[in-house]
Amino acid sequence: MSIELRHEDRIAILTINRPEALNALSSALLEEFRSELHAISRDENVGCLILTGAGEKAFIAGADIAEMATKTPLEARAYAELGQECANLLETMRAPTIAAVNGYALGGGSEMALACDIRLCSENAVFGQPEVDFGIMPGWGASQRLARTTSIGFAKELIFTGRRVKADEALARGLAQHVVPLPELMPKAMEMANVIASKSPVSIAYAKEATNRALAGDLATNYMVEADLFSILFSTEDAKEGLRAFTEKRKPDFKGR
Ligand code: CAA
Repeated sequence: MSIELRHEDRIAILTINRPEALNALSSALLEEFRSELHAISRDENVGCLILTGAGEKAFIAGADIAEMATKTPLEARAYAELGQECANLLETMRAPTIAAVNGYALGGGSEMALACDIRLCSENAVFGQPEVDFGIMPGWGASQRLARTTSIGFAKELIFTGRRVKADEALARGLAQHVVPLPELMPKAMEMANVIASKSPVSIAYAKEATNRALAGDLATNYMVEADLFSILFSTEDAKEGLRAFTEKRKPDFKGR
């Protein structure tokens, strides 16, 4: 049971590796996950993060149900806060995050996928929020992110019924951006991650920050922040290089400054 982190150029690939429990996130695994996410968020060489699960059956089958069965309300609160912290790191870290959903993404697994900026799915992907089947409710962000990603009615339907959603429906509902056969999932994720990582990191970071605000705060402030971030980018070498490269009909050489 572990979290595996590897780097390919400017792409970080984080794999939840507990296939014997379909990559369910125990407290110990979540703590390891949090420390890897903190390290990645501080690593300026990372231009994009891909999150996936080990094996061919599951992305993350949620929180660890056996462990939850023994938790007191106070322990459950700490577990919720730890899961939320991991989800928030995925959502707010400077580098874009891609969930490569290679099978079951249930409960907390769906919640980690929802916290990523972009979701790519294999054809065997299955999303769902089955918490009510256990007499509990989502605790790692789905009560907010599912509605914001899809629609309030669809989110309530899934959260109240526990119904599972296959890849084609996830795509139709905007839960997934692309669906591909399982062998093509990581190549597709790497292709997209490489495109993102080839851009100026500072422009991507500001674009992510501004776009994240689309679902929070008031519109007038968000437009002002967008204009602020847009104008700040004009002080960077990358913007000068990117704009000049277009007029000189060549590829830009971004330095992250
Ligand atoms: N926690 C702990 N163990 C889990 C698990 C989980 N979430 N999901 C699967 N496992 C374990 C199973 O207990 C089983 O272990 P054993 O071999 O030791 O019995 C192993 O993984 C393989 O699972 P199955 O035999 O059940 O595999 P399957 O192919 O028959 O079914 C499945 C796959 C439909 C995903 C099924 O395992 C399942 O329904 N799992 C539970 C998924 C779930 O409901 N997750 C949400 C948890 S609640 C939550 O996440 C709260 C929150 O918001 C934070």
